[in-house]
Amino acid sequence: MLSLLLAAVSGSLLEPALAGDAPAARTMARSLCQNCHGEDGVAVVPGAANLSGQQKEYLRQQLHAYRSGGRRDAQMNIVAKTLTDADIENLADWYSSIKITVEMPK
Ligand code: HEC
Repeated sequence: MLSLLLAAVSGSLLEPALAGDAPAARTMARSLCQNCHGEDGVAVVPGAANLSGQQKEYLRQQLHAYRSGGRRDAQMNIVAKTLTDADIENLADWYSSIKITVEMPK
């Protein structure tokens, strides 16, 4: 898990993103988030949340909270510390704009 995280963190130094920049957001999601949340926001490890289709405002708030330490999680605090405001905006845009369908249990 640590190596995943280190790979994720080093990716952010190589790929800065501009606000409202979907291709950059996709690249960043691939390099920084997909090992745990998937590029498409469907979690690939049991402890991580699904992010696709989530409210943009919620994603933005959580990423700011992880970055400031207001919300504590060992992995997310490390990842979020590498993000700029523009990165957070782009990633919140990216994951919130992935369409999901919901089916209620019968
Ligand atoms: C090493 C694995 C890992 C990586 C990489 C990672 N996350 Fe997470 N993420 C987690 C885990 C585990 C949680 C649940 C933490 C908790 O309980 O607070 C989480 C939670 C979150 C949440 C809160 C979800 C909710 O429902 O409240 C958001 C938003 C999030 N991650 C976004 C991201 C983004 C964006 C990236 C890439 C910049 C990223 N994460 C990279 C493991 C990871």
